[in-house]
Amino acid sequence: MSRKPIIAGNWKMHNNCAQSVELIQGLKAELKDIEKDLLPEVVVAPVFTSLYAVDEELKKCACGKIKLAAQNCFYEEKGAYTGEIAINMLKDFDMSYIIIGHSERRQYFSESDEMINKKAKAILANGLLPIICCGETLEQREQGITDKHIASQITKALDGISSEDVAKSVIAYEPIWAIGTGKTCDSIEANRVIKMIRETVKSLKGEAAANSIRILYGGSVKPETIEEQMAQSDIDGALVGGASLKADSFSKIVKGAMA
Ligand code: PGA
Repeated sequence: MSRKPIIAGNWKMHNNCAQSVELIQGLKAELKDIEKDLLPEVVVAPVFTSLYAVDEELKKCACGKIKLAAQNCFYEEKGAYTGEIAINMLKDFDMSYIIIGHSERRQYFSESDEMINKKAKAILANGLLPIICCGETLEQREQGITDKHIASQITKALDGISSEDVAKSVIAYEPIWAIGTGKTCDSIEANRVIKMIRETVKSLKGEAAANSIRILYGGSVKPETIEEQMAQSDIDGALVGGASLKADSFSKIVKGAMA
C-alpha cells in the first residue's frame, strides 16, 4: 500500500517573525514550479510566535503545497497553566500537525510518556494529527535495549487511541544520538527500527493501522542522505531539524524525496 511521504521541518527555537517569513518565502520560491501532486507532504513547524506570520504567508498562494505544524501543545482546553498553549488556540491557524514527545522536550522539560499520550488523544479529538517522536539514547543503544525502549514509548503513546486514529497519525523515529550531531543513523538500521515500530503498531492496533501510519526518520537528515533513506521499504519521510533552517537545503531534501 502506498503511503504519502512527509518531509517536515522542525525549526526548533530558531527564527523570529521576520526570519520565519523570509524562510517560508524562500521555500515557496523553491517549490513554486513543482506541481503539488508530485511533492511529498511538506510541513513546517515554526516557533509559536511565528505561527501567525507564517500562516499568513502560506495563505498568499503557497497553493496548499506547505502545511503548518506546531512544535508542542498542552492537552487541557484552557485554564491556569501559565506559559502553555491549548490545541484550540493553535487552530486559529491552518494547522495540520502537532509534534509531540520530541526528545528535547522529554529531556529538558521532563515530558513523560503519559503526558505525550494525553497530548496525542487531545490533538486527535481536536481534528489535528500528532507527529509522535520516539528514540533511544546512545547508552540504551549500547545496552542493546533500543527496540524494547521504543516499543514501550509507542505502546504508551498510543494507549487508548482507536485504530482509525492511529492509522492517520505520524510517528517519527529519532535516535537521540543522531539529532543535531551530523551522525545520521545508517538507513538500513533506521528502516529496521521503523519496521519494528510498524510491527508494534500492528500488534496493538491491527494491520490496517500499521499499513497506514506514516513513520518518519529524524536525526541529521541532509540533502545527501534523503534519497537512500526514502529508498527503504518502511521509511515514509523525514523530520528535519538543522537542514530545515535554510530554504535551499530543505527544498533539496523535499526534492530528494520525490526522486
Ligand atoms: P536534526 O534534528 O535534523 O538537526 O538532527 C532533527 C530533530 O530533532 O527533529
